[in-house]
Amino acid sequence: MLVLGFESTAHTFGVGIYDSASNRIIANKKAFYKSLNEGIVPRKAADHHAQNASKVLGVALAEAGISLSDIDVFAYAAGPGLGPCLKTGYAAAKYLSLMHKKPLVPVNHCHAHIETARWQLKMKNPLALYVSGGNTQIVSGMKYGGKTKNAGRGTAKNSHAVVFGPPFFVYGETLDIGVGNLFDSFARELGEEFAHGSVIAAKAEKGKNYIELPYTVKGMNFAFSGLFTAAAKKIRQPGIDTNDLCFSLLETAFSELCEATERALLLSGKKELLVAGGVAQNKVLCGKLKLVADENDVLFGVADNQFNADNGAMIAQTGYVQYKRGKAIAQAKAFSRQKWRIDEVK
Ligand code: FE2
Repeated sequence: MLVLGFESTAHTFGVGIYDSASNRIIANKKAFYKSLNEGIVPRKAADHHAQNASKVLGVALAEAGISLSDIDVFAYAAGPGLGPCLKTGYAAAKYLSLMHKKPLVPVNHCHAHIETARWQLKMKNPLALYVSGGNTQIVSGMKYGGKTKNAGRGTAKNSHAVVFGPPFFVYGETLDIGVGNLFDSFARELGEEFAHGSVIAAKAEKGKNYIELPYTVKGMNFAFSGLFTAAAKKIRQPGIDTNDLCFSLLETAFSELCEATERALLLSGKKELLVAGGVAQNKVLCGKLKLVADENDVLFGVADNQFNADNGAMIAQTGYVQYKRGKAIAQAKAFSRQKWRIDEVK
């Protein structure tokens, strides 16, 4: 079975294709909306997605060596995300599923990041730290037996025979902003043209001295807005090295995440820990989480960066899982939802 997935929740318009027979991603293409000197303006990003949709779709199909009529299921990221951006992937998937008379499957973006990381890492029932711009959560899900119903020839031998999914439980989460948002906002305060977490991470690598900043963990929840305000105030203080400040910002935020994650690991008794989402591309965070996992005799994993950055492949692969769980919907009931929490996914 070939599943095509559209991702368009924020800055990325992505198209991915998953082949269940070989259990492989056979295409993963994207166009990225790069906002300069401002945050993401939803309308501008949506225009970018609409302008690039057919081109990205075309190169994804060419990479896979197939045509649209070969696709068995169309999946799309239905939320959470920016309203105008969500509508572009939603419209494309709905139109193509109608035109080709094929099933349509809505996918939760957070579920997709976690599920595709789990799939690639061949984990069975992990605790997931999901870290991105808009979302930061510690999540567990259900593991359904060893194989899916009607999963097709050879499926039971493959890692995707393990079905991991809803209902999800959120052990802990940010009480205010996402950790990626913290870094993007701080980059704007520093006057960076491309205000992105990767810019802060590069500066942090050059920092050495820790500058004390507020640290907020409440049980398994954490908060970052006080940390942002305190760090932003220090930028113009005399004698402050901004590389040291970036280093300290990352150290503080990542330590908060590690403390809360360790608590959730101990409470849940899980033996696997994965980190997924845009901020999972940060090696410092991964190093700290690996330490937490090693100290607790837990397997740690992080997926390839192509799956941590927003992408269509994760929507396709998770779309397959949800399709097999009977979650295809009638085109007339297609939806997109800006605030679709992972623990609301069915
Ligand atoms: Fe994402």
